[in-house]
Amino acid sequence: MLTWRQVVRLGRLAGWAMLPLIIGYILSGYTLTGKYGLDRVIPMGAAHWIHLKLDPLLIALFTTHVTIQICVSLRRRGWLTSGKRREETQKK
Ligand code: HEM
Repeated sequence: MLTWRQVVRLGRLAGWAMLPLIIGYILSGYTLTGKYGLDRVIPMGAAHWIHLKLDPLLIALFTTHVTIQICVSLRRRGWLTSGKRREETQKK
């Protein structure tokens, strides 16, 4: 079982890992469409590979990041509390 701190770290890690991946998707996409002359810089095979093979990774990272960051944000505002924390608050 992951601790809350580890979950927060996982959410951040997924966000940072997505950054180069999204840039890769944009660049490979423009290579495939032939826009901005990127098809002369990036090999078509590499662009195809990035765009057509990395979607499971992107979906996994995006889902992980968004789910965790939304929970972190809600918890910070006090709109989401764990059962344990709720019990502690009610005791006071
Ligand atoms: C619907 C989409 C997204 C939502 C709702 C979302 C939400 C958030 C939230 C709430 C934070 C934390 C801000 C804070 O600490 O107060 C965050 C951080 C971050 N996000 Fe996202 N995000 C989304 C998409 C993305 C995408 C597509 C990328 C990358 C391309 C990304 C990269 C990052 C990074 C690098 C951080 C900083 C993590 C850190 O604290 O070290 N996010 N995001």
